[in-house]
Amino acid sequence: MTEYANILVEQRGRVGLVTLNRPQALNALNKATMEELVDAVSAMDADPGTGAVVVTGSGKAFAAGADIKEMAGQGYMDMYAADWFRGWEDFTRLRIPTVAAVSGFALGGGCELAMMCDLLIAGDNAKFGQPEINLGVLPGMGGSQRLTRAVGKAKAMDMILTGRFIGAEEAERAGLVSRVVPAENVVEEALKAAEVIAGKSKPVAMAAKEAVNAAFETGLAQGVLFERRLFHSLFSTEDQKEGMAAFTEKREPEFRHR
Ligand code: CAA
Repeated sequence: MTEYANILVEQRGRVGLVTLNRPQALNALNKATMEELVDAVSAMDADPGTGAVVVTGSGKAFAAGADIKEMAGQGYMDMYAADWFRGWEDFTRLRIPTVAAVSGFALGGGCELAMMCDLLIAGDNAKFGQPEINLGVLPGMGGSQRLTRAVGKAKAMDMILTGRFIGAEEAERAGLVSRVVPAENVVEEALKAAEVIAGKSKPVAMAAKEAVNAAFETGLAQGVLFERRLFHSLFSTEDQKEGMAAFTEKREPEFRHR
């Protein structure tokens, strides 16, 4: 397995676990951390033995944002020429299901990374925020778009314009978070959810993720048509035959492609 400086990578059965590991900087997402994370999860995406991925933090943060110290001295041309943050698009293009396990701070880019994941499981100590306005900037890794889609205009404006942090319960009420669990169990609960997903057919889970994500990119009629065509296409798979046979025979399915 590749050695990384800013993340820890483990394989737990069919689940990949990536832990952001710069606790001295509250896991601030510098360029190197972004590249390592994308590299590690892309390898899991391509590995037929991995069916889902959990991304988590360490210490008191999931991640306290993009690395402010790395960005502070940059000028417009530096940011533009480097297309700063473009690498995160590779994370959003992953086909494998991803689960964020958030304990402590998920701020700025940390909140944005959590929102890039497919499931967001929060410890009851989680704090979400987009405090970029206090730095004289705005969210730059998709926060203004993904937060608004997740929680609606009212709360997104509140968080982005005031920089206010919200706790796990408010985040769950607002629809930002899939589940809230006791902080000490957050990784375990995320791993359990990921194991359930990894027990399904991987190509079918990928197709389901694609269909849900299409809801953010298309109109309703187009999205429903896309879903129906995907649904039809799955009738060419052994896993559809197995899943439906197992139901009829009152047994657990043995998916071939997991
Ligand atoms: N970048 C770089 N370093 C960071 C950091 C960040 N985003 N967040 C924390 N750190 C560093 C601190 O500078 C400090 O380092 P030193 O010990 O060397 O001083 C260390 O992590 C511990 O942090 P604090 O001492 O500040 O810890 P605290 O418990 O007192 O406060 C906190 C915690 C409220 C989260 C505070 O650290 C904080 O406000 N962090 C910044 C949050 C933020 O503004 N995030 C947005 C970043 S910009 C962005 O993300 C743009 C985008 O949209 C992608």
